[in-house]
Amino acid sequence: MSDQAKIIYNDQTFEAPVVKGSEGELGLDISKLRGSTGLVTYDVAYKNTGATQSSITFIDGEKGILRHRGYSIEDLANNASFLEVAFLLLKGHLPNKKEYENYADLIRMHTLVNEDVKHVFQAFPNGSHPMGQLMTMMSMMSAFYPDSLNPHRIEEDFDMTITRLIAKTPTLVAMIQKKKMGHPLVYPKNNLEYVDNFLNMTFGQITQEYAVDPVLSSAMNKLLILHADHEQNCSASTVRIVGSSQSNLYASISAGIAALWGPSHGGANQRVLEMLEEIAKDGGNVQKFIDRAKDKNDPFRLMGFGHRVYKNFDPRARIIKKSADEVLGQLKVNDPILHLAKELEEKALADPYFAERKLFPNVDFYSGIIYRAMGFPVDMFTVLFALGRMPGWIAQWNEMRKAGQPIGRPRQIYTGEVHRPYPSWDERG
Ligand code: SDX
Repeated sequence: MSDQAKIIYNDQTFEAPVVKGSEGELGLDISKLRGSTGLVTYDVAYKNTGATQSSITFIDGEKGILRHRGYSIEDLANNASFLEVAFLLLKGHLPNKKEYENYADLIRMHTLVNEDVKHVFQAFPNGSHPMGQLMTMMSMMSAFYPDSLNPHRIEEDFDMTITRLIAKTPTLVAMIQKKKMGHPLVYPKNNLEYVDNFLNMTFGQITQEYAVDPVLSSAMNKLLILHADHEQNCSASTVRIVGSSQSNLYASISAGIAALWGPSHGGANQRVLEMLEEIAKDGGNVQKFIDRAKDKNDPFRLMGFGHRVYKNFDPRARIIKKSADEVLGQLKVNDPILHLAKELEEKALADPYFAERKLFPNVDFYSGIIYRAMGFPVDMFTVLFALGRMPGWIAQWNEMRKAGQPIGRPRQIYTGEVHRPYPSWDERG
């Protein structure tokens, strides 16, 4: 196999070195293309462009494979704790018992947020979207921790700025849920594990002891793991490019939350539930909505279906679908929306339109059904996606900074007016 490719244009030949990854992925290194030929590549939305080399996550979209640092998502979801996976993503290896205990203790000691955060938090209008609140509170963290403003201070993977992010995000998310419910805040408890602490802050009450349901705990742990990282997706690429300007980690993560909010990305889990509820309200005619999704004149898309990379089943969707059955069964919830989702999936997968375009259910298709069964309001779903994605975003940002990558700045093909003289007022008609 050749280690270079030739790009021939007119009388010019550019020899592009071929970069080969550890899983055999091949990429043309065109970093010297413009200097040699004056040509740039053109790839709207970077559908075929590798922005970096990375050792964090591997996806094979054709085979439906997802691995973090070499471990399959199935093994991690079925055996690990979310904090173990966060350690793996940030440090590059699974912790041994001592490392894990030390890490869990370190995180446990930093779960409180500065009391002054509550003043900013109280200013949010009731009913304002939780993703807007999380985005604001995340960028506000740099105000409370000014030493985080210098990205070069993060010499250690577990620098305090990173530790605070992993430790305090569950507290911020629980605060958002409490505000939404109009309930008093429940503070973190140091005797609880990471996920149980989050569930206690979210669903516990200050008026009585709250026993964390092991079914909810296990389902939440699995859902957070399934969202932990996904290589160069829209929000991770946003976090990397903001960080490439040497902006601080909190600002970069806040930008990632903004990108995740969109319904084409993480916002899809909220839109899936709203779509299913719309179908139910419309009489449950699934085929009618499948036909709308196929109609090019109708902007309606089947939310939770399709993926930029997976042209096979999203392995996370398989795990979540199984977990949805288990959780709703164990919670004795008979949710007609789940039956509707299964009917919709069945009919869409049997439809040539979806099969031809390799459109399968993605991570967002079933997750909202579990979140709803757990008692989360629909507009909290994407905030839960962000909570899971936190270690992945940080690991991607850290990898970019440690590699000393330069500021990200793509080129363009200009299609506007060519040079023209400045007109007088009269010449403007
Ligand atoms: C996430 O990148 C990641 O890894 C993201 C993520 C992560 O973990 O970070 O996996 C999380 O964001 C999952 C995706 C959640 N979004 C949705 O479920 C929204 C619905 N899906 C679509 O908007 C769409 O599938 C995207 C955005 C996910 C992917 O879009 P692409 O890769 O740009 O694909 P495309 O728009 O070029 O579609 C190809 C064809 C088009 O039809 P033709 O022009 O070829 O006739 O498929 C059609 C599209 O119209 N199509 C759909 C469809 N998705 C694609 N038609 C109907 N319903 C859909 N959902």
